[in-house]
Amino acid sequence: MKAIRFYFGLLFYLCHCLQASDNGPKSVGFSEHVAPIIFNNCTSCHRPGESAPFSLRNYGEVKKRGRLIARVTVDKVMPPWHAESADYEFEGQRLLTDKQISIIGAWVNQGMKEGNTEKLPQMPAFTKGWQLGEPDLVLTMKEEYPVPAVGRDVYRSFVIPLDFKKDKWIKAIEFIPSSPEVVHHSLFRYDTLGWARKLDSRSKTPGFTGMGEGEVLGPRSLGGWGVGGRAKFLPGGLAYRLPSGADFIMDMHFHLSGKPEKELSKVGIYFADNPPKEVFTGIQMPPEFGALSRVSIPPGDSNYTIEDSFVLPVDLEAFSVSPHAHYLGKEMKMTATFKNGDTKTLLWIKNWDFSWQEQYNYKDFISLPKGTRLDTKIVWDNSAENPNNPHDPPRRVSWGLQSSEEMGSVIVLVKPRNEEEMEVLHRALKKHAGEHYRLRNPPRSSFRDKLKNLFRGSNKKDG
Ligand code: HEC
Repeated sequence: MKAIRFYFGLLFYLCHCLQASDNGPKSVGFSEHVAPIIFNNCTSCHRPGESAPFSLRNYGEVKKRGRLIARVTVDKVMPPWHAESADYEFEGQRLLTDKQISIIGAWVNQGMKEGNTEKLPQMPAFTKGWQLGEPDLVLTMKEEYPVPAVGRDVYRSFVIPLDFKKDKWIKAIEFIPSSPEVVHHSLFRYDTLGWARKLDSRSKTPGFTGMGEGEVLGPRSLGGWGVGGRAKFLPGGLAYRLPSGADFIMDMHFHLSGKPEKELSKVGIYFADNPPKEVFTGIQMPPEFGALSRVSIPPGDSNYTIEDSFVLPVDLEAFSVSPHAHYLGKEMKMTATFKNGDTKTLLWIKNWDFSWQEQYNYKDFISLPKGTRLDTKIVWDNSAENPNNPHDPPRRVSWGLQSSEEMGSVIVLVKPRNEEEMEVLHRALKKHAGEHYRLRNPPRSSFRDKLKNLFRGSNKKDG
C-alpha cells in the first residue's frame, strides 16, 4: 500500500493520510464514494434537530466543510468515539476504516467533485419519536430549564418525583431532549431518600447542582444517554430495579450553543412485566468513584495514577462498561487477566474527554470466570498543559462531587452465572472496598504505639 503524505492548505495542520490508490478509487466523486460514508456515519447526528451544529446531508453541505471534515476524520475526532478498540467489540461502535478516511482525504485533495449523481445512495431512514416504540411511562421535566446562550458548560440535575408503591423493573429508558443542540448527555439514577427533592426546592431555577452526598455512593444508576446514543433494551432480559418510593433523577450536561434555549426533556420508560430471572450489578474500580482512594492531585502532576485490582470470587458475565472522571481525567484502563495468564482489555480510554460520558455496551456477554483478576488504572493530568484544567494556575485538587474537584472510576456491569452467588460477589466487593481504603490510607500510629515500639526496641517505621 502506497502511503503518500499530503498537506492541507493551512500551516498548522498536517495530515497523514493514505491516498486512495491501490486501496480505493482513482477518481473520487462525492455521489458514489463519499456520500455512503457520510450518510452512514455522520448524518445521524449532523441533521436538523440533532446534536451536531451543522448538517451533512448532501453534496453542498459536505463540500462546504470538506477540508475540516478531512481533518477531523484523520485526527479521529469524528465520528466521536473515545474508546480504543478493545479486545471485545462494542455495540454501535463509531469508527471509520483507514480506507474510508483515505477516500475522504483523496476526495478533498482532488477538488471535491460531485461525481456521478445517479449513483447517489438513498439517505438512511431516521425514525422520528420513540425509537423503541411507545413507552410504558413518559416522564417530562417539571418545568423548563433556561439554558444560557454563552459561558461555560452547564451541569445540572433534575428530579421527577415518582410515587410507585411497589418496586418496578426497567428494561430500557429512552431520552428525548427538547433542545438537542445543547443537551450533550443525561445520566439517570434514582433517589429514595428525598435528597434530590430537597436540593431542588432550595434553588430558584429549576433543578440543582451537585449530586447530594448520600446519593453518589451505591449502585443507584439507571444508565444514561449521550449525544448520538440510541436507546437499547438491557441484554438477556435483564432490568434495573426501581425501588418503591424512588424519585427519578437526570444529571444533565449542556454544551451552550450561542443562543438561549429552553430545555424540557422527556423520558420514556419501558418496564418488565415481571422481576427478571437474572440479576446484575456493577463492579466499580476503584470503589466509590475513588472516594476511598485518597485522591489528592498535586498541581503540576501530569500523571497522577490510582490503581485497583480485584479477583473475581465467582463466575461472571460482563455486558457493559462505563468510565467516569472530571476535567483532569486523562487515561482509564480496565483489563481482565485470566487464570491462564492471558490479559484482555475491557476498556481503554487514552484521551478522556469529560464531555463524552459514554456507556460502552459489549456486543456479546463476556465470560469472566472465577479467579479472573480485574485491574483498573485511572490517570489524571493536573498540569498547566492540560487544556481542560479548570484552575489557572493549577492547584491541588482532591476528591469531591463538584466538577472542579475530582473523582474517577470504571464500572463494569456483570451478572453472576448463578444468581445465588450475587451475595458472595457483594460481600467480596465490600471487603475489597475496605482493603482498598486501608491500602490507600495507611494507619498512622498513635503516640502510644510509638512508645510501645520504643520499649520493644523496635526501630521499624510505621507504614
Ligand atoms: C454521535 C454524533 C455525531 C456523529 C456520528 C458525528 N458527529 Fe460530527 N459533531 C458532533 C457534535 C456534537 C459536534 C460539535 C462538537 C462537539 O460537541 O464535540 C460535531 C462537530 C463536527 C465538526 C466540527 C469540528 C470542529 O472542530 O469545529 C465536524 C467537521 C464534524 N463534526 C464532522 C463529522 C463527520 C465527517 C462525521 C462522520 C464521519 C461526524 N461528524 C459524525 C456529533 C457527531
